[in-house]
Amino acid sequence: MIWPCSHVAAMAAYALADLTVDSGVPLISLSQNESAFPPSPAAIGAAQAAMADAHLYPDPDWTELVAAIARVYRVPAGSILCGAGSMELIGALVRAFAGPGDQVLASAFSYAFFRTATLAAGADYVAANESDLTVSVDALLGAVTPRTRIVCVANPGNPTGTRIGRRDVVRLREGLPRNVILLLDEAYGEFADAPGEATFDLVGRGDTVVLRTFSKAYCLAGMRVGWGLFPPAIGGEVRKLLEPNNISAASQAAAVAAANDRAHMHAVVAETVARRARFTQSLHALGLDVSESHTNFVLIRFADASAVARADRVLRSEGIVMRGMAGYGLANALRATISTDDHTTLAANVLARWRRAEGNS
Ligand SMILES: Cc1ncc(COP(=O)(O)O)c(C=O)c1O
Repeated sequence: MIWPCSHVAAMAAYALADLTVDSGVPLISLSQNESAFPPSPAAIGAAQAAMADAHLYPDPDWTELVAAIARVYRVPAGSILCGAGSMELIGALVRAFAGPGDQVLASAFSYAFFRTATLAAGADYVAANESDLTVSVDALLGAVTPRTRIVCVANPGNPTGTRIGRRDVVRLREGLPRNVILLLDEAYGEFADAPGEATFDLVGRGDTVVLRTFSKAYCLAGMRVGWGLFPPAIGGEVRKLLEPNNISAASQAAAVAAANDRAHMHAVVAETVARRARFTQSLHALGLDVSESHTNFVLIRFADASAVARADRVLRSEGIVMRGMAGYGLANALRATISTDDHTTLAANVLARWRRAEGNS
């Protein structure tokens, strides 16, 4: 008889969005926090050109990509590791530093992959309360035990969209034992970057990791490129667990070109923020509760889970799929990615119709 490792058998598969819509209507997915914009034309061109050498394995040291990241973000090249998406880096970090008997701590409505990575490592996942859908430094510090190895904070958060400021991040780091790694996942960092808020310098302490990705503001989710800053003693172990040729040559070339096209990234962020404001305003006008977002999505809260189910049904009848949040412990919420104005306007109009049908003006 063949059997899996018991901690793998006990895990559920990572749940992506259910993209089923009524037959005959085109799918409008607002469910995966993808960019509504295509990548920089320079990135597309670079990936196409890289295909000429696709018979060769890619650069295992991501040389040009590391140089581009170091230059653009003004961070030390020697601290950078690149992954097939930041997910690969999260998984490798957790496997390297947490195992059976250890705990990985995150906050209640945190990015779901932290849990998956923890269970895949055979470690225990612990969630601390949040305060008003925002990471609570006090709750995290209060949940630390002698078994805690890693504290994961997505900042800004997914699915909440909220963020804590650098001052709170520093308070968290200083309140944690030095032998606990703080993982700061800044997948949406470019949407929140502001003077005085950067956290890259914390990596120099030796106990903190900061992750970023090309999937969101750089519009390259399909290419699978993430990166992180790691202290040497942590990065050295993580690197052992990365696939030796983890990022395809086309993806590396695309990411280098995207990193160098600052104008494209800034335009994507600015336009996403403007659309997010318009969408949020139209949802507020319907009396829906939308928390302040620092990302490319919004979290919409309804009266209860059954209102979510009814709204979801009507949205799907028009082809619109938002992400149900029951798996995140937010059964009364849907998460909607900011898409084209046409898509978000259609979503707001469908929700307005639904509200009227339910007897709300
Ligand atoms: C908070 C957070 N971290 C990491 C990721 C994964 O990003 P990547 O595409 O780089 O693996 C996501 C994707 O949605 C995310 O929301």
